[in-house]
Amino acid sequence: MSFELSQIGLVHANGQRALRAITLSVTGGERIAIIGPSGAGKTSLLRILATSIRPSEGRVSVLQSNPWQLSGHELKRLRARIGVVHQFPPIPPRQRAITAVLAGRLGQWPWWKSALSLIYPADIAGPREQLARLDLADRLFERCDRLSGGQLQRIGVARVLYQRPDLLLADEPVSAMDPALADLTVNQLHSEAATRGVTLVASLHAVDVALRWFPRVIGLRAGEIVFDLPAVKVSDGVLRDLYASETGILPTQDNQPLTVLPAEEAAVNGLKVVVPPRVI
Ligand SMILES: Nc1ncnc2c1ncn2[C@@H]1O[C@H](COP(=O)(O)OP(=O)(O)O)[C@@H](O)[C@H]1O
Ligand SMILES: [Mg+2]
Repeated sequence: MSFELSQIGLVHANGQRALRAITLSVTGGERIAIIGPSGAGKTSLLRILATSIRPSEGRVSVLQSNPWQLSGHELKRLRARIGVVHQFPPIPPRQRAITAVLAGRLGQWPWWKSALSLIYPADIAGPREQLARLDLADRLFERCDRLSGGQLQRIGVARVLYQRPDLLLADEPVSAMDPALADLTVNQLHSEAATRGVTLVASLHAVDVALRWFPRVIGLRAGEIVFDLPAVKVSDGVLRDLYASETGILPTQDNQPLTVLPAEEAAVNGLKVVVPPRVI
């Protein structure tokens, strides 16, 4: 079991309720997309799984432990096994790409190796290999404040690939990328999860990316799970309900209309169809 949430509720410090009665079981090796409108609670849910916030109600188990019953030392060890891709990676502005990627293993290294790696990279081949997977090999020594939003997001992904965690969490990891780079990046997260048999949970703004890459899709709205379905069962009606979209426009990576109608029908209507991913 990768994680188990039972009747989770979350009220933020300012009194804002973000999640309500979330119950979710995920076994090892699943690939899950969380979709839903802005403010639905996607980031809050991922932060609970990342053990960075404690839920106000309910029980949480991540990688077979209850994070909130662990000692400080044990919690640190658990967190080193969880990889998080942030929507806006918190990278110090003048840090170089290589250092940002090396940071993926700081939680696993003894303190002296971590400290030394800030002065001189403890490993060069490893970060280069991960950056190459994201088409950033030539940016190894680039300062992060000279990179675009989409490049920074890929640095965040390279960091988590370098970390080799037992649970991969990604919060809108491709929101600043064009469709081709988004596909490349999700493909790499996907193949990492598949090769190592670890669970991948990603919140995604773009419905087409979610349906194309993730076998299980969870719809979140106003802090509640409104559906939890195999991607092939996610119908146009279900999506329209989720986004309460009267106009029928669903968010996609390239802002083009999306339909989940059968291919022939969609072609007639001149709409884009969700196609299965290429073989990795
Ligand atoms: N740190 C916070 N403090 C107070 N309220 C928050 C905080 N983070 C999120 N919220 C609120 O919780 C709800 C869910 O937000 P969030 O989890 O960020 O949703 P999403 O990622 O789906 O856009 C929203 O109403 C948001 O305003
Ligand atoms: Mg969010």
